[in-house]
Amino acid sequence: MSVKIAVLGHGVVGSGVCELFYKNKKSIEKRAGEEMDIKYILDLRDFPDSPYKEKFTKNFDDILNDDEVTSVAECMGGVEPAFTFVKSCLEKGKSVSTSNKELVAEKGDILLRTAKEHNCNFFFEASVGGAIPIIRPLHKCLAANDIDKVAGILNGTTNFILTKMYNDNMPFDEALALAQSLGYAEKDPTADVEGHDACRKICIISSLVFGRHVYPKSVYTKGISDIQLCDVEAADVLGCSVKLIASVRRLENGKILPTVMPTLVPYENIMSGVSDVFNAVLVYGDGIDQAMFYGRGAGKLPTASAVLGDVIETVKRTSTESAQTWEPSSDDSFIASHEEYVSRWYFRVPDGKQPSDAGSYRHDDGVSFITDKPFSFAQAMDMAKEMNAFAFMPVMD
Ligand code: HSE
Repeated sequence: MSVKIAVLGHGVVGSGVCELFYKNKKSIEKRAGEEMDIKYILDLRDFPDSPYKEKFTKNFDDILNDDEVTSVAECMGGVEPAFTFVKSCLEKGKSVSTSNKELVAEKGDILLRTAKEHNCNFFFEASVGGAIPIIRPLHKCLAANDIDKVAGILNGTTNFILTKMYNDNMPFDEALALAQSLGYAEKDPTADVEGHDACRKICIISSLVFGRHVYPKSVYTKGISDIQLCDVEAADVLGCSVKLIASVRRLENGKILPTVMPTLVPYENIMSGVSDVFNAVLVYGDGIDQAMFYGRGAGKLPTASAVLGDVIETVKRTSTESAQTWEPSSDDSFIASHEEYVSRWYFRVPDGKQPSDAGSYRHDDGVSFITDKPFSFAQAMDMAKEMNAFAFMPVMD
């Protein structure tokens, strides 16, 4: 008898899961070591022309109460009703694979515990970095390392917009509309533009690497809506590109510091060349020094690839993956304030306010420069006030 799968949601990712599954069914089954089929697709909408039309249901209980279904792919997005559905599936011993970063960032600790209690799995490779394998490498391949820092471009939509604005002079709104039409953006693209999506992803990475649940509300998050073209152009003259960087580092006092901020990335840093919808994640560990993971960070089939990789793993596994877990956190005292973030800084200030003309770039919208020395965020804010700065951003190491 074949393993029966249910797919929750038939939007961009859910429909991609069905498409890729049937395209590669034979090799997927070979890799899983079992025959497999999709038995249900849950969606409230009608899809009369779909090749899978006989599989649709609007009733979640059809899936929950069908003991044949042992593996569920959750591609609905949002916390509710996804949380209720996923938790109920896990409580029935059905493993769940999800692309839903909001769900993992808000409720990951609860769902991991529920999976463990019912000897099944809650997998979420697709929730961070789209197609890029990063969750499993972090707790498996790199398990021998003391990882003290992870930094990445974790949102495809904003990276796509920044690339189009800079390379093609495309206005912000046009670039966003294009990203939406390509299926990259969230339902509410504010989550992309204001950094909330990247925040959820760095929360998931932080929780997994440092072992305690990091909630989005504890993370300093700034998106790209304030970025001016003049800053992108000035950054280029100063030898950098502007990227939305989500990072987490462990400080000497043992606290961790996760942030999401537009950041200047020097051209000698490999991350500066990551363009369009591509994401990249740099992991720093005592054994590996650095390792970079790179690939398509959003889109139908890239994300479906990660979901199905997890589904195949759920079919192969007979027990809960013990290394992929973290503890709940009752407070955020283990998280440092963003004011402790230390780096060199980019400033754009009115002409005459720059500390020196050497290394400064004078242009129509002010004078841009990068500090030689590192300062804390708190110091950078004081400096910005003193110089009446129009803009300031950190510079990546
Ligand atoms: N909106 C997200 C992005 C989708 O642009 O990266 C993938 O998580």
